[in-house]
Amino acid sequence: MTEYLRRRVDMNALAPVFDEASLWGARFAFLMLDELELRPGIRALDIGCATGLPLLELARIHGEKARFVGVDVWSAALHQAQKRTAFQGLRNASLAEADGHQLPFRSASFDLIVSNLGINNFAHPETVFAECARVARPGARLALTTNVRGHLAEFYDVFRELVPDKARLESDEAHRGTVASLRTRIASAGFEVTRVVERSFQLRFLDGSAMLRHPLVFWFLQGWREVVAPEDQERVFAELEQKLNATAPLSMTVPMVYVEATRAAS
Ligand SMILES: C[S@@+](CC[C@H](N)C(=O)[O-])C[C@H]1O[C@@H](n2cnc3c(N)ncnc32)[C@H](O)[C@@H]1O
Repeated sequence: MTEYLRRRVDMNALAPVFDEASLWGARFAFLMLDELELRPGIRALDIGCATGLPLLELARIHGEKARFVGVDVWSAALHQAQKRTAFQGLRNASLAEADGHQLPFRSASFDLIVSNLGINNFAHPETVFAECARVARPGARLALTTNVRGHLAEFYDVFRELVPDKARLESDEAHRGTVASLRTRIASAGFEVTRVVERSFQLRFLDGSAMLRHPLVFWFLQGWREVVAPEDQERVFAELEQKLNATAPLSMTVPMVYVEATRAAS
């Protein structure tokens, strides 16, 4: 019944088909593409670019005088991004396997730093922001998208009733942070937050059975499992599926935030 709890993903095999998974990332990337002011001749960095989102589109829309570099720790995804860059003949985008916590770039070398959905994936976001501040030129922009607290609220309302350890679930939800906590983190790294745009979209599923087996939900499932004792997981998730099915069709809210900040001139 709960076979989706045993699903595993081979990250090397995933990379070539990651465009499918990025139906999620695309929602956030479109927000960035709508909001970011385009400026000529910039040198820009995308942290956590995976297979090239939004790196390649940003490189295309800025034209050949701009220079974009994308970094990620996921080498198979970078390989895929490299193939796409070559196939499209993109001359102003390059890739490097590098960790956002320790960027292999000289200080004050970028006019723009972007990250689409990176922040919730970095082990120590403060360190990554400090690195962003280091490699940003005075006046450079930092532009981020992320999902924040309140994400999939309709799901959590059902799940909360079934989870004995509510404090643990609370900390799983809090992991996403808020607009206020994001502002504080960015400001402490030496950026001035200049713009915050909040939007949301709905993820729709026929029922709980479809939702829990959706490849996107796989990425959240690990966190959800961790708040339930291993011996209770089969029972709790079977009940969860029944309860979600009873309230079908499902429509889950995903809040999105676009934040733009400027590196103070030192
Ligand atoms: C949710 S994915 C977003 C990928 C892409 N930007 C998109 O929108 O589809 C987060 C990415 O951050 C990368 N990542 C995680 N930790 C990282 C780190 N320390 N340095 C660089 N990239 C990292 C992951 O490998 C992954 O590709």
